[in-house]
Amino acid sequence: MYDLKIIIASTRPLRRGIIVANWFVEEVKKYTEFQVEILDLDTINLPFLDEPKHPRLQQYTHEHTKRWSEKINAADAFVVIIPEYNYSMPPTLLNAIDFVYKEWNYKPVGIVSYGGISGGLRSAQVCKEVMTTVKMVPLAEGVALPFFEKRIVNEVFQSDELVDKSVQTMMRELEKWTKALKPMRSPDF
Ligand SMILES: Cc1cc2nc3c(=O)[nH]c(=O)nc-3n(C[C@H](O)[C@H](O)[C@H](O)COP(=O)(O)O)c2cc1C
Repeated sequence: MYDLKIIIASTRPLRRGIIVANWFVEEVKKYTEFQVEILDLDTINLPFLDEPKHPRLQQYTHEHTKRWSEKINAADAFVVIIPEYNYSMPPTLLNAIDFVYKEWNYKPVGIVSYGGISGGLRSAQVCKEVMTTVKMVPLAEGVALPFFEKRIVNEVFQSDELVDKSVQTMMRELEKWTKALKPMRSPDF
């Protein structure tokens, strides 16, 4: 079994992202290759980056960084669930990425984005640039949810065939990359 961490990036009071996340987490239970842990940046509550040394040295001084490092280190794969703010990625996720470095290396990441007409795709594109800098492998296949608010009925996200297909395609790719990248993280590779 591979360890999949699902990172929820939105932390605003009354955030709508949690509804998307609740739906997605249920979907992912169908993929038995993965054991899933949810990393909700709202409850994890990292401060703005406050470590004196570059993260690649892993000389962390704060308990919150050590805890975050352990969580990210344990992962074999990620899915991030992201809103789009001002055509860009949520700063909560950028901050969380900046905290550690090696822990992200050679791990695949699928992006579930939501927003208005763009479906959060501009946010996703910005994420990819940052992710490749920490040597994550962002998947080409993602899940983009345009006008996602219209799909929320009684606080439950309503999927459809097209969205379901995009989840399946992304998860299939995530499985492949998870298997392919694991050997790269062994010290003698
Ligand atoms: C500061 C801010 C900036 C936003 N910028 C965008 C944007 O660039 N593109 C977009 O599609 N939606 C934008 N929105 C609308 C969000 O898609 C919408 O508020 C969504 O609910 C945000 O996710 P959250 O509720 O999980 O935080 C913005 C919302 C906020 C609060």
